[in-house]
Amino acid sequence: MAKIDLTGRDFLKLLDFSAEEIRYLVDLAADFKAKKAAFTPVDKLRGRNVALIFEKTSTRTRCSFEVAAHDLGMGTTYLDPSGSQIGKKESIADTACVLSQMFDGIEYRGFGQEIVEELAKYASVPVWNGLTNEYHPTQMLADLLTIREHFGRVEGIRLSYYGDARYNTGNSLMVLGAKMGMHITLCSNRKYFPNEALVETCRALAQESDGSITLTEDVQEAARGADVFYTDVWVSMGEPEEVWQERIRDLTPYRVTMDLLNQGSEDAIFMHCLPAFHDLHTGTGKLIHDKYGLTEMEVTDEAFESGKSVVFQEAGNRMHTIKAVMAATLGYRE
Ligand code: CP
Ligand code: NVA
Repeated sequence: MAKIDLTGRDFLKLLDFSAEEIRYLVDLAADFKAKKAAFTPVDKLRGRNVALIFEKTSTRTRCSFEVAAHDLGMGTTYLDPSGSQIGKKESIADTACVLSQMFDGIEYRGFGQEIVEELAKYASVPVWNGLTNEYHPTQMLADLLTIREHFGRVEGIRLSYYGDARYNTGNSLMVLGAKMGMHITLCSNRKYFPNEALVETCRALAQESDGSITLTEDVQEAARGADVFYTDVWVSMGEPEEVWQERIRDLTPYRVTMDLLNQGSEDAIFMHCLPAFHDLHTGTGKLIHDKYGLTEMEVTDEAFESGKSVVFQEAGNRMHTIKAVMAATLGYRE
């Protein structure tokens, strides 16, 4: 097998990467994780700098980029959702050209996928997608690492996703599974199935990888024998307040419960990209409770807090996998 070299590449969506390249990034992340545990320094990218553009808020992704960059020896500049000229007084193309003069790489979290694609088109340094409406590729690498840590493999794993399956997380899990030979079931009210063109693309990829893509409205069917249960918020960042009522009505039947988890395989796990609404300890959770009477949303507190839940290990893996993406595309060498 030819040695994999991702130097200079953008990381915009998993569709742009082969299974071998994705495996390489996860292997590199596992190596970084072991080095971190052993206090082995990896600061070979000293003197480099990265720009972190966030047009939506973040805890995990921002912290992961910052800690990972610092571990690699790099400096970081954070541009918050309101603190830059991007899109308001300066075009994406001009921003890309300006930042490329100062930085060695650019992370972008924002709205349409076309924005990060345009940023990458005009930037002369690697651009990394930190979440768009359509895709969340760095989350997928962390999920893959977590699944591999738990099951020792990813091929043949049966992952059932419940909830809003037509947004960044649902779309990305479908692409991930199709590339890596997993059996992905997206379980939702059909209004929330991913767009048909993407489903077709993924089904074709799944045929080559011995994986499969199933869309169903049947909650029990999706649960039987599943190895991984996965869900995400019902209303994503950037969506209007007004959609809550309809989402609650449409997606409450697709809440992940302990009863569902118990129908999975013996060592089934629960995953969530986070943040999650599983109790009333959040501002939004309280507002929704006051307005609609719900005490938990996409996952019950019992399932979230259960021994099957690996959500915090998954969150920690964001940092190691994001480190791998920056290192690989910036030409890190041992
Ligand atoms: N999962 C995830 O992307 O979390 P943040 O929104 O906190 O970055
Ligand atoms: N679908 C969620 C993912 C958060 C990590 C959102 O876009 O808000």
